Amino acid sequence: MFAIDQGSLPPAPGGRLPGLVSLWYSCAMHPHESKPFEAVAQALLDWYAHNARELPWRSDPQPYAVWVSEIMLQQTRMETVLPYYRRWMERFPSLVSLAQADLQEVLIHWEGLGYYSRARNLHKAAGVVLEQYAGMIPDTREGLEALPGIGRYTAAAIASIAFGRDEACLDGNIRRIYSRLFNVEEPLRSPAAETRLWTLAEQLLPPGRAGDFNQALMDLGSAVCTPQSPACLLCPLRSYCTACGLGVQAQRPVKTEKKPIPHKLVAAAIIERADGRILLAQRLPEGLFGGLWEFPGGKKEDGETLPEALAREIEEELDAAVAVGAEFGVYEHALTHFSLTLHAFRCRLADGREPRPVQASAVVWVTPAEMDAYPMGKIDRLIANGLRG
Ligand code: ADE
Repeated sequence: MFAIDQGSLPPAPGGRLPGLVSLWYSCAMHPHESKPFEAVAQALLDWYAHNARELPWRSDPQPYAVWVSEIMLQQTRMETVLPYYRRWMERFPSLVSLAQADLQEVLIHWEGLGYYSRARNLHKAAGVVLEQYAGMIPDTREGLEALPGIGRYTAAAIASIAFGRDEACLDGNIRRIYSRLFNVEEPLRSPAAETRLWTLAEQLLPPGRAGDFNQALMDLGSAVCTPQSPACLLCPLRSYCTACGLGVQAQRPVKTEKKPIPHKLVAAAIIERADGRILLAQRLPEGLFGGLWEFPGGKKEDGETLPEALAREIEEELDAAVAVGAEFGVYEHALTHFSLTLHAFRCRLADGREPRPVQASAVVWVTPAEMDAYPMGKIDRLIANGLRG
């Protein structure tokens, strides 16, 4: 018999049963005729045929275009991604053009999208494909997963959308849809929930239609089965949805309590030379904001004032001494794992030592106008723009 997940079936098949539960019981009565998973997949595909979003890579899903779109869409909303995607494809229209581009230019085209390791990895992976695979993007999930920056979800998305492979996808949106459809009560991301969700995802996948099916789930998750106030009345899967039938869709997925997000207090130096040029430091290639340029500085430790922290950080990072002057501005930034408040100070070099990149990749003295050519994070770009007056 067709194996449906029974983990959350209600105790007795007595009265009116919700969604897939009732479907399962009817299936149990007619095991050879009913195929509820196929019905669910078909309902979703029918909905997608009329409701698919028009996206630039969808009419002709070429592997490079799908790859770029999937990397940009990691942790980032579609409205934010679309203008970046268009500019990217104008400047780097092919894998070869990306592989041969300078990393600085790649990062400039990514600036503002955040999570810059995505851009570094995309650039690196394009180089690997060009050098090691003669420019041919791998056409299997396993082959794609071997490239820098491509995890299981992204590999499955590219393999299904661009190469028509039967690969199931599970990201945050799809986990939410399945948690509701099957009323998954195990806490989200727990090993038990992961096993169950992956099993369900693979069972539901309609052979030969994985690309459309996965994209349909993505669109459903963003337009209908939203985190807050899902539009269940408009949902093509409503009659199959166990959580909706039980009225518990708002409580699915079950989330574990989030740890409070730590806050960092940071000081940065606008070190101006007698000729008006200002010092930028390039961050080390790995890690957060790796390879980007910044006004040097760092985190305040307990017992230090902000100017003291700044002087210490400049010593450590650049082997230089600064006299810290007036505060230039205060900036807030919220990231996934922490938030930060940055205080920028005007500074002068305080002895004859010329700054050198000890804990940085490079340093440059530039005019505010020249800073446009240096990729930076959001706060540093705000400071740079503020310096142009
Ligand atoms: N989110 C991530 N990948 C997507 C895609 N290919 N289509 C729509 N939304 C997405």
